[in-house]
Amino acid sequence: MTEYKNVCVVNHPLCCHNLSIIRNKETNAEVFRNAIKRITYLLFYKATEDLTLEDIEIDTPLERCRTKILKRDKEVIIAPILRAGLIFSDVANEIMPFATVRHIGMYRDEETLTPVWYYNKIPVEFDNPKDKIILILDPMLATGNSAIDAIKLFANKKVPQNNIRFISLISAPEGLNKVQTMYPDVKIITASIDNCLNEYGYIRPGLGDAGDRIFNTVEN
Ligand code: URA
Repeated sequence: MTEYKNVCVVNHPLCCHNLSIIRNKETNAEVFRNAIKRITYLLFYKATEDLTLEDIEIDTPLERCRTKILKRDKEVIIAPILRAGLIFSDVANEIMPFATVRHIGMYRDEETLTPVWYYNKIPVEFDNPKDKIILILDPMLATGNSAIDAIKLFANKKVPQNNIRFISLISAPEGLNKVQTMYPDVKIITASIDNCLNEYGYIRPGLGDAGDRIFNTVEN
């Protein structure tokens, strides 16, 4: 298997178990969404493990003690790629209520497999771009085209690559190679690296169209 420099595969048993649930084509939308939410906690555990802490003193009901809280020296920005990336947002907001959410609206042109922009909530310029941590959310890292466009959005505004993380459920080697070639210092956190893409740009074995399965719009 290829060694990727900056890719973290979260091989936790609970990830594997829930991935099996979402891969199964018989799984209905409600069960699908809940299984993804369970995986999301584990992905975010990894994606946020280097947030910095600072010492404080507090009073417990028993005594004064030294403890640690998150140092708010960097703004955490959650950037879900619409529409499938929304599935990560609730959990992300729940565990990081202080984060800013900046949606990115892109869909994939099914013929060219290139991303088409329709919306983004990113300011023209960032104050202190070095002090931003960006978590880009998209369940499927397939061709890598939308991932690169989303990363570019922040990299062009001078956010350092190693402050940008891309979080996906399932990744294809083609997409990982493309992103790692263009943005080698962007960390990718994923629950699985699958085999390859098919001729329509879907990940094999994958789980089908993530957006359709999340929002129950699968046409039979
Ligand atoms: N997008 C999806 O939803 N599924 C894939 O397999 C690839 C891209």
